[in-house]
Parts: sequence; C-alpha cells; structure tokens
Amino acid sequence: MGEPQTRDVSNHVLFEIATEVANRVGGIYSVLKSKAQVTTAEYGSAYTLLGPLNRQSAAVEVEELEPKDPALAATIQSMGERGIKTLYGRWLIDGAPRVLLFETGTAYNYLDEWKGDLWTVAGIPSPPNDHETNEAIVFGYLIAWFLGEYVHHERKRAVIAHFHEWLAGVAIPLCKKRRIDVTTIFTTHATILGRYLCAGSVDFYNNLQYFDVDAEAGKRGIYHRYCIERASAHSADVFTTVSHITAYESEHLLKRKPDGVLPNGLNVKKFSATHEFQNLHQQSKMRINDFVRGHFYGHNDFDPDNTIYMFTAGRYEYRNKGVDMFIESLARLNHRMKSAGSTMTVVAFIILPAQTQSLTVEALKGQAVIKSLHDTIKVIEENVGKKLFERSLAWQEGQELPEDKELLSASDKIMLRRRLFAMKRHHLPPIVTHNMVNDAEDPVLNQLRRCQLFNHPSDRVKVVFHPEFLNSANPVLPMDYEDFVRGTHMGVFASYYEPWGYTPAECTVMGVPSITTNLSGFGCYMEELIENASDYGIYIVDRRMKGVDDSVNQLADYMFEFTKKSKRQRINQRNRTERLSDLLDWKRMGMEYVKARQLALRRAYPGAYEEDEEPDFFGSHEVKISRPLSEPGSPRDRSGMMTPGDFASLQEGLEGLSTEDYIAWKLPEEEDPDDYQFPL
Ligand code: UDP
Ligand code: G6P
Ligand code: GLC
Repeated sequence: MGEPQTRDVSNHVLFEIATEVANRVGGIYSVLKSKAQVTTAEYGSAYTLLGPLNRQSAAVEVEELEPKDPALAATIQSMGERGIKTLYGRWLIDGAPRVLLFETGTAYNYLDEWKGDLWTVAGIPSPPNDHETNEAIVFGYLIAWFLGEYVHHERKRAVIAHFHEWLAGVAIPLCKKRRIDVTTIFTTHATILGRYLCAGSVDFYNNLQYFDVDAEAGKRGIYHRYCIERASAHSADVFTTVSHITAYESEHLLKRKPDGVLPNGLNVKKFSATHEFQNLHQQSKMRINDFVRGHFYGHNDFDPDNTIYMFTAGRYEYRNKGVDMFIESLARLNHRMKSAGSTMTVVAFIILPAQTQSLTVEALKGQAVIKSLHDTIKVIEENVGKKLFERSLAWQEGQELPEDKELLSASDKIMLRRRLFAMKRHHLPPIVTHNMVNDAEDPVLNQLRRCQLFNHPSDRVKVVFHPEFLNSANPVLPMDYEDFVRGTHMGVFASYYEPWGYTPAECTVMGVPSITTNLSGFGCYMEELIENASDYGIYIVDRRMKGVDDSVNQLADYMFEFTKKSKRQRINQRNRTERLSDLLDWKRMGMEYVKARQLALRRAYPGAYEEDEEPDFFGSHEVKISRPLSEPGSPRDRSGMMTPGDFASLQEGLEGLSTEDYIAWKLPEEEDPDDYQFPL
C-alpha cells in the first residue's frame, strides 16, 4: 500500500486497458486507435495501453521496443521471471502509443487459483469451459498483478488505470480489494444483459426499470459475466459510458448511475483542398462500379450513372444492428420505386462477417469474365489503332477516309463474340458472394428470400450480401472498408441496440450521408446537436415512439427520397455532411476523457486539491446547429457546449483545464460547390 496523498497528481501516469488493443474486434478498437493521437499528445511516454497478446495481429500492428520507464521495465522483468510473457512496443498507428501486451496463455497454470480467489474476494462465480470468461479472469489478474508491482516501483507519480468493457474489468474489484494505489475508471461500451435482451424479442426500452437482472442473466447463462461487469462498474472510482442511452441502461441494469458520458470521437483528417473527399468518392465509386459490373454480368441493364450504392456493415448481430429492418425497408423501397416508374437503381450491400467456406464460383467468375472482356477489348483497341494508323499513312488526297467497318478484323470479331458468349447467364445474379456454412438457416439470406429480393431485372433494388469484412487483398470486391464507404452514396444502420455506433460516424467524416436511429448513441447525439439533421445527411429513424411497421416505412421513405435527388443535390449534401466532421473530432470529444481522469484523481487523492467539494457536474446548455447555409431560411452559426445533456458533461472548471477551445466551436464555413470544378 502506498501513501495516496504523497503522489503527484499533475504529473501522473495513464494506463488504458482493453482487449482490443492492437487487435480489431469491433468499435472499441476504433475508440483506442482513433484516440491515440490526442492522448499521446497529452501524455507522451506516460501513456501505455495494456491488452492481451494476440500474436497474429500484433505481428502486423506492433513494433517491439525496450521500455524506458524504469518502473515499467522492472515490473515486466519481475513478471517475466515468474513465467509471464509480454510484448512491449509501439502500436503502428497515428500517435504511435506504447503498448504492453500480456500472453495470457503463460498464466493459465494460475487459473484455478485465481477463479477461487475471485469467488472469495468478490463473490463472483466462474463455471468451467467458458473460454471468454477464463480469458477475462486471467487477463484481469495479470493486470492487477502488473499495477500492484508498478506502483511499488513508481512511488512518486499518481497512476490512472482506465478500463474499457467487462472483458478488461476483472482487475477493478481486485485493485479495490488489494488497495492498490491507483485510481480507476471503468467505461462500458454496452451492457452484456442489454445486448442479450435486445437480441431476443423483448420490448427492452419500455421495461428497463422492471427487469429482474439476476434472474434474466441466470436464464441466459451469463450470470457470472454479468457479475464481473457489475463489480467493475461498482468498484471503479469513476464509472462512465459512451452515450446517454447506455447511461440510462447501465443505471437500471448495472445499478450504478454513471458519473458521466464519454462520447466516441474520430481522428479527423483534413485534406488541403476541402473538396478532395468528393474526388475520392468518385475514385472509389469507380472501383465499386467494376465489382458491380462483374457481379451482375449478363444483367448490366442498369446505368452506373443512375445507380445509388447503399450499404450496412457491422458485426453480425442481426436484430441489434437493425439488419432485419434494413432488408424489410429495401423490399418496400423496391416496390415503391417500381410503382413510381423510377429510372434509378439501388444496389444495397450487406457487409456482415458470418461463417463461410469460400467465395462462390459465380462471384469469382463474374469478376473473371469482366476482366477478360477488358483485356480482349484492349487487344482489339490496339489492333484497330494500328490498322487505322497504317491506313492513314497510305491515304492520298481525293480518297475516302478509312472505313470503320474495315478496321475490325475477322479474328477481332471472333474474339469479341467469344467474350460476349461467356457473359450469357441463365440464372439471376447471386445475392451472396460466399458459400455459407449455414445457408439454410442464415437470417439474412432467409429474409432476402422471404422478401423475394433476388436481383431480378425488373427489381429496382438489387442486393449483394458480402459475409466477410472487406479487404483490399480479396479477389472479389478488393477494397478496404474505408475506401468502400467513400465510394458509396449512403450508409444505413437501423440499429435497435447500439450504445454508440461508429459506422454512421465514420460515414459522416467521409462526407457520406447515413441513416441511423434514435436508439443509437450516435443518432441521439446528433439529433440533440443539429436541427434538421437530415439536411446534413444525418437521417434518424424513430424506433422509440413509432411501431415497427411505421419505423420501417420511415426508413423506406428516407431511402426513396434520397433516390430522387439529382447528382448536384447529392454533391451539395455530401459537402454539408462532411462539414460536421469537426463535431466528431477527438480534439473536442477527448475533453470528456480529460474530465473523467481529473475526477478520478480528485476522488482518489482529495488531499491534493484545495477545494473539498467536487465541482458541479451538470452545467451544460444546449444550442443546436441550425439549418445549413445553402438551405433557405436564416442561417445561424452555432457556438456553445459540445456535449449534450446533463449526463454528459463531467465537470466544468476543473483545475488546469482549458475548455475554451472546446466550447468556442463553430460550424466551419460552407464551401460553395460553384467555386470549384468537377464534372457533373
Ligand atoms: N468495420 C470494419 N470493416 C468492415 C465493417 C466494419 O473494420 O468491413 C469496422 C467499422 O469501421 C467500425 C467497427 O467495425 O469502426 C464497428 O464499430 P461499431 O461501433 O459500429 O459497432 P460494434 O461492433 O462495436 O458494436
Ligand atoms: C464527386 C466528384 C464528381 C462526381 C460526383 C458524383 O463530387 O467530384 O466528379 O461527378 O462525385 O456524385 P454521385 O453522387 O453521382 O456519385
Ligand atoms: C460497442 C457498441 C458500439 C460502440 C462501440 C464503441 O461495441 O456496440 O455501439 O460504438 O462499442 O464504443
């Protein structure tokens, strides 16, 4: 045990602990990676991320280094002497933060002992054969071990340990029980019970207060995990979550009201030309066009210029991510576009990783026939060019110009005919790119079948289910996710359970309009900040007050209205969407993390602060962003607090904080598309 009051709070050390450090699973990886730059700018070498070692991803994401901090080096060495393997290095991302990754496999000989201890000190049971929980326990004990030793070696500086999600939370009750001289923050990015309840057919939000949490967790076989999460929330000095909606949920399901909300930001990269993102859209769209032409070979009866690309993407949580609602709305959109005689086509991509065996032969063939067609036409082009050149050389005054019919030789024609025959197809373009392990029971495929979305030529809505995350090394649709998003026209994320939802936020900073719901943290955040959010390309479906059928219709309406926009209107809207980027930049959002850390220090080391009282938590006032400048009506720039609601603002007026930059934010000037040129 140390002497709390003697530690230096202003010059403190920060550890962030999560299972997704240098290891992509879902959105928590996005939080850590995108935030790295602002956190390293603030802390330099006093910031280290701690996670379990995943050799495969660490091999590409981490460069090994020798630790310089003597306390860190001593701790790693002493753990190493007792058989614990670690990897210390630089995470190869913007900001290059230091990471220390623990190989949990080297500590499994302690598993039984630690499980027993967890029961004794925290009353948390752990059944056998739950691998995920075993990992959480081993990792948690390693972290508590690490922190205990670290503060023994580092006697001067205060230490903040900031934990993300229950999987990394086991160490929090241990720190408290063992009175390890650190201050702890626990940020939950979802609740286990919430995720499970929503995935079923429960009316979640209307019953939040009434759930018998222990019984519900027990029924689902997740009682022990729930206990870890609840213990993490209760033992932390500061408890936070990523949105209001999850704060409310946590209060009822975890029985502790969060101290504040830490909304997720992004690392916003500004281009020197503000319209550069529009050019990137065009380039990426061309690459999607290439895929679409191959996939729909033999059925390319729709014009790429009159085609809208929509998509949804995420972990395969069919109901939670609103994929059920998306597909149903696509069916209604299809019907509406047909009835209205629309000349547009929508190609809707569904990108959700599922269990697959391989790419289908058809998907590979589609790309191959188009490539052969390209290659053949290139050869023919050269032949025609050569001939035209020779004829022109031989041309004499008074003669006719070379006849175009003569330019195509008989062998060129045969080559071309062969390619055209290869593109004949006797069945419809497939709705899925891979062979699924569970084709007959896959919820997406079954719903597409039920809705009869089969890529028929008469359909105005075509679908492509890509049951794997995107990657530029793939032979079919060879694009990284970010490039793909840029090339689309709209992202649709109709989530029912979504504590934050990075996917629509990422669309926004790339200038791609998106549809989300008022049950997602991001949707609520934007709805509170912006009037007429849809003018800015942020469409929010009401899933709170409306019945399911009405919500589906609202989503179909939004999509239908979008298909009616002209190219010029789409370009304008993208400009407005992109202008919202600053709103989501960590340079602003990161301020809430600063406040959470200040609060944690104050709670652990009250003697280091002059005033006894914690400053007021709730002091924010809201001013909404008004209509976009290019819309009719009187424009009004917004300035004021960025964090919505009473939950969100942790503390104003904390010592040493400069919130000026943060609160004086203004919507950037709108660039007039007429001031720059691009082909329409
Ligand atoms: N994502 C990805 N590749 C894909 C589709 C999605 O890397 O093909 C990423 C996406 O960029 C986002 C994350 O997966 O950052 C999903 O995070 P979100 O917060 O939306 O949901 P979560 O999975 O955490 O529930
Ligand atoms: C960007 C490009 C333009 C292109 C347009 C297409 O703005 O700079 O050159 O014409 O995108 O927009 P669309 O919505 O049709 O994909
Ligand atoms: C969780 C949530 C997601 C959120 C992410 C990052 O996995 O499901 O909504 O965006 O964490 O906070």
